[in-house]
Amino acid sequence: MNILKVKTKHEMSCLAADIMAAQIIKKPDSVLGLATGETPIEMYDNVAKRNIDFSRVRTVNLDEYVGLDGANENSYRYFMDTNFFSKLNIKKENTNLPCGTATDLDAECARYNALLESIGPRDIQLLGIGLNGHVGFCEPNTEFVPNTSVVSLTESTIKANSRFYDDISLVPKQALTMGIRQIMDAKHILLIANGPAKVEIVEKAFYGKITPAVPASVLQLHPNVTVIVAEN
Ligand code: GLP
Repeated sequence: MNILKVKTKHEMSCLAADIMAAQIIKKPDSVLGLATGETPIEMYDNVAKRNIDFSRVRTVNLDEYVGLDGANENSYRYFMDTNFFSKLNIKKENTNLPCGTATDLDAECARYNALLESIGPRDIQLLGIGLNGHVGFCEPNTEFVPNTSVVSLTESTIKANSRFYDDISLVPKQALTMGIRQIMDAKHILLIANGPAKVEIVEKAFYGKITPAVPASVLQLHPNVTVIVAEN
């Protein structure tokens, strides 16, 4: 595990953007695993400004809220379209997220599992980290859940994500998320975290015990992980 410590969010975003850009330049048909949240927004913007050819790139996102469709501005589909895909020459059909409004959520998990299987290992999997150590929406648990599943979000996650909603009662209580085995299948994992609020969980996840109670701690077992942590 390569842990890079930088001072500012700007430095973190530039460094992460350099890594993602290099990946696509090296392999124009790269498969990218993508993440949402406040942390990657500047990185996405930085990558988009480089005018890299995304016409052969395929993407798979980690997760989506149950009940929100792509037109909802709190959905992760909307987030990705707005913050990244709309700024690139990527083909919409090459971008994938779980569908939060599927009527049969188990069937949607099966569809996403099959999609991940057919698309093969991602060249890079971008991750953020939740305050409780979640990656994607893999919440603290008694075991590592391997594949895509429907999860109930913890109080801590609902509270943390309520900053994007007018009222906490509007935050969805469930999400669909890629599983831990699927995250670990990526060839290179790039995790970014910034700010004083993330210091404690970064310490716990990457220098502490490997446990499903801190899902990100499993990354200690992956052979190719880059963590970029910014103080501010
Ligand atoms: C959400 C997402 C995660 C993300 C986390 C942290 O829960 N599902 O993928 O890493 O938020 O978000 P932020 O970057 O806003 O702190």
